[in-house]
Amino acid sequence: MDKMTWWKEAVVYQIYPKSFQDSNGDGIGDLRGIINRLAYIKELGANVIWLCPVYMSPMDDGGYDISDYYHIHPMFGTDADMDELIEKAGEMGIKILMDLVVNHTSDEHEWFQEALQNPKSKYADYYIFKETKDGNPPNNWRSYFGGPAWERVEGTNRFYLHAFSRKQPDLNWENRELREEIYRMVNYWLDKGLGGFRIDAICNIKKRMEYGFFQPDGEDGLRYIGDFILNQPGIEEFLYELNERTFRPHNSMTVAEANVPEELLEQFIGEKGFFTMVFDFSYADIDVPDTGEWFRPRHFTVSELRKNIFNSQKMVQEKGWGAVYLENHDQNRSVNKYLPKEDIHYYSKTMLGSLFFFLRGTPFIYQGQEIGMENMTLESIADYDDIATHGQYERALKAGIREEEAFAIVAKRSRDNNRTPMQWDEGKNAGFSDAKSTWMKVNPDYKRISVARQEKDGESVLNFYRKLAGLRRGGKYASVMTYGVFLPYEVEEASVIAWQRIADTERLLVIHNFQNREGVVKIPEGYDEKVIGNYKSEYFNTGSYRLKPYESIVLYKTTE
Ligand code: GLC
Ligand code: CA
Repeated sequence: MDKMTWWKEAVVYQIYPKSFQDSNGDGIGDLRGIINRLAYIKELGANVIWLCPVYMSPMDDGGYDISDYYHIHPMFGTDADMDELIEKAGEMGIKILMDLVVNHTSDEHEWFQEALQNPKSKYADYYIFKETKDGNPPNNWRSYFGGPAWERVEGTNRFYLHAFSRKQPDLNWENRELREEIYRMVNYWLDKGLGGFRIDAICNIKKRMEYGFFQPDGEDGLRYIGDFILNQPGIEEFLYELNERTFRPHNSMTVAEANVPEELLEQFIGEKGFFTMVFDFSYADIDVPDTGEWFRPRHFTVSELRKNIFNSQKMVQEKGWGAVYLENHDQNRSVNKYLPKEDIHYYSKTMLGSLFFFLRGTPFIYQGQEIGMENMTLESIADYDDIATHGQYERALKAGIREEEAFAIVAKRSRDNNRTPMQWDEGKNAGFSDAKSTWMKVNPDYKRISVARQEKDGESVLNFYRKLAGLRRGGKYASVMTYGVFLPYEVEEASVIAWQRIADTERLLVIHNFQNREGVVKIPEGYDEKVIGNYKSEYFNTGSYRLKPYESIVLYKTTE
């Protein structure tokens, strides 16, 4: 059995601070708003909060462009508010994870400003600059957000590399002094009593620098940058050092945003791994091709989804520990992604909740997921705030897709779907803010979907999530639910996803009917006890079970 640790037993709640709760009526969520809602998070059953970035930033990419790692953006509050949040959460048994963004900084960071103005300064080597003789960019890599990955320094033949937006220059991890600066900053935060970090885009920090013209893989004449900067040989030296100098001495929880190939996985999440867990993208990004082009959506079946989930579970279980999630701030709403439009309702939403809560790994709930929030489509492309949405739209047009169609596909996948304000109640701005207008529109469905409404209703998505989290955090089933080995359970129905979790003397059988019709599965002997299900029906073991549409049911037995 796995070694027991606090972060394996945790339930995490992810907050997008700009959209969670506004406390001072400026239409933007803030730290005080989060402090005021700690009781809600505790009641939901989460004991860790991951906060998306709240540092100083020009907010070109929602705060993932940091201009000062040591201070809180005034829009979110003060440095003292952050300390207070850590303290108050701590008193309630909740640990805080911050986002660690160290693949790049903002171009407004003072290091980069120095580097720009003075190519001879030591800061120039904190980034990746390259001068060319002919004035053309050093190569034709495409940044993840679209367009060239190199930006010219005005009036020169000097370029800098940016894997993401041009306002996010990449840091040069080869530089020892820079690495020391990063460790100092990470320890500064950890010493304040943080639980740890979610670590952004970390697989990109080692670059295989090659210059010239590469075979393009798109209509734009550019080539996917990931081929050269993802998981490159030598990255392990940087990650090892980072862990040794910061996380390990603090016994931190660290979740790396890292799609790691199987050969490397043990180094990442094994017993002595660089991180305590990783997010993989294998089922959250099932609708996107490997090159990340939202505008060429991949259609998928339930069988494929099952295969991806099972492969990921088996692979991670062999090597260490993982994080499981259906949503985050880079995704659209899971109910819109995985379910046909006409099938989005209480049963299918709760089935999805159960689907990820009973997997092996630490569950991450993204704000609003627990009330079944849905996508929101804005009127025109100009209304979107998310930089990736604009990049994808431009690429779609370049690929010859008509405007209307490009808009429709990109809007469905836009990250802004998950960045709309949290829907607390049926009042003004859904209880998110007293302001006249909020930074991002409130989804007009808030009268139908809100915390207040669901709190009153025993049979709500929210109350189902509360039960799931409760089961995971304590009581009879918590141990097998957390530490049980994952074992696929073969069924004949193509749209049923089922597995077992196996501990020394206990087992769970977890079944999901991922379709709008009935399905029948065999039930082995001994599974006489129902743990949870989204239909009220009574359960007896008769050797088989007839599932209702989108039913989920979890059964339990003890073994010798
Ligand atoms: C990660 C973040 C995403 C951000 C990108 C660049 O993927 O989750 O929101 O845009 O890194 O920092
Ligand atoms: Ca505010």
